[in-house]
Amino acid sequence: MDIKSIGVIGAGQMGNGIAHVMALAGYDVMLNDISQDSLNNAVALIGKNLDRQVSRNKITAEAKADALARIKTTLQLPELGQTDLIIEAATERETVKAAIFEDLLPHLKPTTILTSNTSSISITRLASRTDRPEKFMGFHFMNPVPVMQLVELIRGIATDEETFAACHKVVANLGKTAASAEDFPAFIVNRILMPMINEAVYTLYEGVGNVESIDRSMRLGANHPMGPLELADFIGLDTCLAIMNVLHDGLADTKYRPCPLLTKYVEAGWLGRKTQRGFYDYRGETPVPTR
Ligand code: CAA
Repeated sequence: MDIKSIGVIGAGQMGNGIAHVMALAGYDVMLNDISQDSLNNAVALIGKNLDRQVSRNKITAEAKADALARIKTTLQLPELGQTDLIIEAATERETVKAAIFEDLLPHLKPTTILTSNTSSISITRLASRTDRPEKFMGFHFMNPVPVMQLVELIRGIATDEETFAACHKVVANLGKTAASAEDFPAFIVNRILMPMINEAVYTLYEGVGNVESIDRSMRLGANHPMGPLELADFIGLDTCLAIMNVLHDGLADTKYRPCPLLTKYVEAGWLGRKTQRGFYDYRGETPVPTR
């Protein structure tokens, strides 16, 4: 199956990055959100991130203009129905995703492949609520999407080979590399990454180190590009907590118990960079630890 057009649902952190790389690779993109402000912000951010790539000679100014021209935005979900491949990148809540698929289904052409960028929710369960579980799979990008090389591809129990091959080809066309993961809670990257981040929060909670010493230790001691608390703020503390809960519920093992301090930050609405406060306060010139 030849994929030419892509529908992206959700214009947030992941959705705008997905629209960016798809358009740059030559796909026609229809980007959907429920908020016009989010769509406007996403297009502005894509322009800014493309500029960054132009200024570092990664792409030409012409490639930037062509990519922007390939992105259309819409508030109307049914308009995505005629695209060849849909990637849902809405809020990481199963009820939200299920409602989106329910609204979308009557408008889909029979051949459209349906995917979700979910970082942890069961692909098989999401697929079972659609009319095409064999044409449904997980298409999981990493943040920041234009920079990160990996895409996790997750087959649900019913996903057919044609669908997997079509998605695999799209990943290759993006110049990215796919890793195939089975459909178990949080797949591969987050199954390993989130317990590490959660352990870093426990290390802070128990007073073993402060925010700076924990991040410095992992940056300089393990060569991670970002410390785990800095990375948690970058991903979003609500997303980190949601993934830990999926691991805890789905695998029923106390080793995945979310740290109470992580829960506390989320309760406070300190969700990291997106709310300007998390383990660091981003409201000033340079980030300052909040503990
Ligand atoms: N769009 C385009 N280019 C971007 C960009 C964006 N949004 N963000 C950064 N870049 C580019 C920069 O232009 C720069 O390009 P060059 O190499 O050509 O100079 C490069 O990326 C590095 O950026 P910076 O110099 O600004 O900053 P940095 O060196 O500190 O790197 C980083 C930033 C790439 C984010 C790096 O800190 C990093 O790799 N951090 C870890 C990220 C990570 O682990 N992501 C996975 C999160 S887990 C996940 O996403 C899964 C999930 O489901 C939760």
